[in-house]
Amino acid sequence: MPDQKALLLPQKQGQFVVDNWPIPSPGHGEVLIKVQATALNPVDWKMRKVGFLIDKYPAVFGWDFSGDVEVVGEGVEGFEKGDRVTGMSYPARGNGTFQQYILMPARLVVKIPPSLNYVDAASMPVGYGTAALGLLAAPPLGAGLNPSCDFSVNHAGEAAFVFGGSSSVGQFAIQILRKMKYSPIITYASARHTEFLKSLGATHVIDRAATPTSSVPDTVRALAGGAAINIAYDAISEPDTQEACFSLLSQGGVAVAIQGGEDKDVGGRKLIHIVLEAHGDGEFGEGMWKSLGRQLEEGVIVPNRTEILPNGLAGIIDGLKRMEDNGVSGVKLVALPQETS
Ligand SMILES: NC(=O)c1ccc[n+]([C@@H]2O[C@H](COP(=O)([O-])OP(=O)(O)OC[C@H]3O[C@@H](n4cnc5c(N)ncnc54)[C@H](OP(=O)(O)O)[C@@H]3O)[C@@H](O)[C@H]2O)c1
Repeated sequence: MPDQKALLLPQKQGQFVVDNWPIPSPGHGEVLIKVQATALNPVDWKMRKVGFLIDKYPAVFGWDFSGDVEVVGEGVEGFEKGDRVTGMSYPARGNGTFQQYILMPARLVVKIPPSLNYVDAASMPVGYGTAALGLLAAPPLGAGLNPSCDFSVNHAGEAAFVFGGSSSVGQFAIQILRKMKYSPIITYASARHTEFLKSLGATHVIDRAATPTSSVPDTVRALAGGAAINIAYDAISEPDTQEACFSLLSQGGVAVAIQGGEDKDVGGRKLIHIVLEAHGDGEFGEGMWKSLGRQLEEGVIVPNRTEILPNGLAGIIDGLKRMEDNGVSGVKLVALPQETS
């Protein structure tokens, strides 16, 4: 096959450049996907800045994709050329999504319904997967609320809290908690996102400009009105936000953090740390991606709001800089690799 265009990082902590890059051929169980849209995640700028996760350079970053099946590898059932699909790829395995074609194991690929466009589909996998792993997977991977991901559980009357509800991950955590019928669902975000977050399932939005992190536990307990707070999802996971989420729990509750720190199990309450990269392709991951496919068909899960970056793959460079500078609020940045000149 001829070359494609890719956004390459030539060396560790170097500068991104768009260049030619070979198109791989699918092996057993794999499909080659023409990438129509790829979303940016905070981990992409962190990987470049800190130089972690990737050993081999030049490297292609990027995790979230949507696109079309181009070539079906040997032994693959259930997919054919032209299927519209989404999923999460693994840059550490030489398979980042900031390029025009990627290889994926077919077992991790999710079909998207005709009603969902490529841009919206690309906004979902990492955010949904991180929220689902932390809330649903059995311990020690997650809080264990629904390991089969069939949403047959009913937590009506129990309160839940999401720190950073307007983040990509936070938006999916709110929606997953709504599916499990938690009520109230309290979140902490900028007030301008209040109506949007209520449309996703939040019952109360604490304005983060008016309430310091140290006051969050008391505010959440007051809003819970006596209901047990058995789950807190920390989509920001700084040291002080993790402490706030842990300390607001009722006896027996679990706080889920998605960045560094030590797990805790004190006084009948737990703080756990989860990593999607480590488990998105394991047994839980396979079931979780299938559950995402079912929900997309049912149209019950809402994508992130998106902003399309200009200039194809080259536009990702500025997009990552904006994320690093905290210049992105309540939207997922999405690039269109086929529009690369
Ligand atoms: N462990 C894992 O496997 C895993 C997987 C994915 C992501 N992550 C990490 O999870 C974090 C979130 O990722 P993401 O993609 O969801 O991020 P994102 O969408 O880029 O987050 C941006 C949002 O964060 C909100 N925010 C920032 N600081 C806040 C604070 N102190 N309180 C409340 N909201 C705050 C902003 O809210 P407002 O606009 O409302 O102010 C903004 O909308 C990142 O650090 C990422 O690296 C970890």
